[in-house]
Amino acid sequence: MTQQTASLAEQIGRDQIRRVINAFYQKLLVHPKLGHFFSSIDDFENHQQRISDFWWMAMGGPLKNRPEPKIDMIGKHFPLGIKQQDLELWLVIFGETLGEQLDEKLAVQWMDKALQIGSRIKQIVIDHQPMGVEIGKPS
Ligand code: HEM
Repeated sequence: MTQQTASLAEQIGRDQIRRVINAFYQKLLVHPKLGHFFSSIDDFENHQQRISDFWWMAMGGPLKNRPEPKIDMIGKHFPLGIKQQDLELWLVIFGETLGEQLDEKLAVQWMDKALQIGSRIKQIVIDHQPMGVEIGKPS
């Protein structure tokens, strides 16, 4: 019999993912340097649900109904004018929230994912590298 390991998403669980996202946004929205980025979102409940679904999928969770319209992470971040220091701050606050909300082992694994995705956002949105470029590949 083959043993299947539950995905990170399933180990954390959907409700807990949503709780982490809620706690994260409570910090982001009132943050003096990052809060303004989110002021134009009109349906915040929908936004948080999309972010939770995104993380569920990114951490390997099975999803029957994918978010519609499709998650467009790069397209949505391009117009925001995010700078390197904004991204770093975002990641620090995300890590802080994970540490407060989750067991260390799960928090570390989720943070690894956030750092990976964060570095793709940096390459494409901040450094304007083409989508296909590979990390560590000389240009
Ligand atoms: C300074 C850092 C960041 C800022 C200010 C920021 C801000 C935003 C804003 C304002 C939106 C909503 C855009 C819209 O609906 O028009 C958004 C969407 C999103 N962000 Fe970020 N973000 C940051 C970093 C990140 C990082 C590091 C991740 C993932 C690791 C991430 C994941 C997402 C996702 C999945 C969406 C949803 C895209 C969609 O609805 O299609 N963001 N972000």
